[in-house]
Amino acid sequence: MIYLDHAATSYPKPPQVLAAMNDFLERAGGNPGRSGHRLSIAAGRIVYDTRESLAELFGISDPLRILFMQNATYALNTVLQGLLHPGDRVVTGGMEHNAVMRPLRELEKRGVQVDVIPAESDGSIHASACADVLRAGARLAAINHASNVTGTIAPILEIAKLTHAAGAFLLVDAAQTAGVLPIHMTDMGIDLLAFTGHKGLQGPPGTGGLVLADSFDPSQLDPLVRGGTGSRSEFEIQPDDLPDRYESGTPNGVGIAGLGAGLNWLKEYGMDVLRAHEIELTTRLREGLGNIKGLHLYGVNDPNLSTAVISFTLDGKRVSEIGYRLDDEYEIFCRVGLHCAPAAHRSIGTFPEGTVRFAPGPLTTLTEIDATIRALERIAAS
Ligand code: ALA
Repeated sequence: MIYLDHAATSYPKPPQVLAAMNDFLERAGGNPGRSGHRLSIAAGRIVYDTRESLAELFGISDPLRILFMQNATYALNTVLQGLLHPGDRVVTGGMEHNAVMRPLRELEKRGVQVDVIPAESDGSIHASACADVLRAGARLAAINHASNVTGTIAPILEIAKLTHAAGAFLLVDAAQTAGVLPIHMTDMGIDLLAFTGHKGLQGPPGTGGLVLADSFDPSQLDPLVRGGTGSRSEFEIQPDDLPDRYESGTPNGVGIAGLGAGLNWLKEYGMDVLRAHEIELTTRLREGLGNIKGLHLYGVNDPNLSTAVISFTLDGKRVSEIGYRLDDEYEIFCRVGLHCAPAAHRSIGTFPEGTVRFAPGPLTTLTEIDATIRALERIAAS
């Protein structure tokens, strides 16, 4: 089996992740931040440790600004629905996932002006293209750090400078980059960061969240959900304290324990080591696939400007057929179609059929990459 679907979810998870989840249920299974007994306190400790690891990873000083949510989609919706009001303007890019586009299209119906900056056919976004809209009074720029379709990395630093010069906030969708690329929110000027735990961070599904920059004033952002927080229970209104303002209901303690173990694994392994490995894999994969007659590669050619995500089409073959044959004949697992990102596929010219997407991961080997290239050569020839 060759697993090339890390952009959808990383697999297999490090054994430490499974062990930490098991351990949480066996030894620390209380409800964090609710009861005062030792199982609740043990669970709260694990949740807080994970907050601390994430705060360090994302370059903020206050771990209470790590807000746990079930996934990046939930975090993106929290910002888009909680910050934007009728009459506001928001700028976004042509490579966005539906986690951004669908809430924005709904907000558009309610009077929010949505400006989509076109992407190049290789998935690149030019910061300068955002400048005019930002200057015209946008409240928010919402930008994908790297595309889930082509892997193309957006120029976040430049966009952040323009966004702040215009007095707007910058929301970055880091679903594809958390744990893959360095993200220092303070240095990069990111106000709000949506992340998932189950991809690059090696944690389980059902983990992720929103990170507020140290400088971001939470009173500007309404919570998406209100309810019990284990704090200020005498009041029937939502507390303003962080993280409780945005964390109602029992948290996914077992998932957060797994995420914490994933973060530790990542730190021990070294993100820079993993990145160098993924660059080596994508370079070989692009070269090998690029030599196949009739195969069209999308995205940028320079692997330093991309995550380990490669999209392609093959003349005369449906992407669904390629995906099926890879699975059935070669046990190679990937994702085909539109990848929940029709805007991105329109930008690169592959809508509505979509592409075949290969997304190698930390433990993918060069031998597996070579086997994948050979499989594609045979599929192309038959
Ligand atoms: N958004 C994820 C993907 O690209 C699930 O596959």
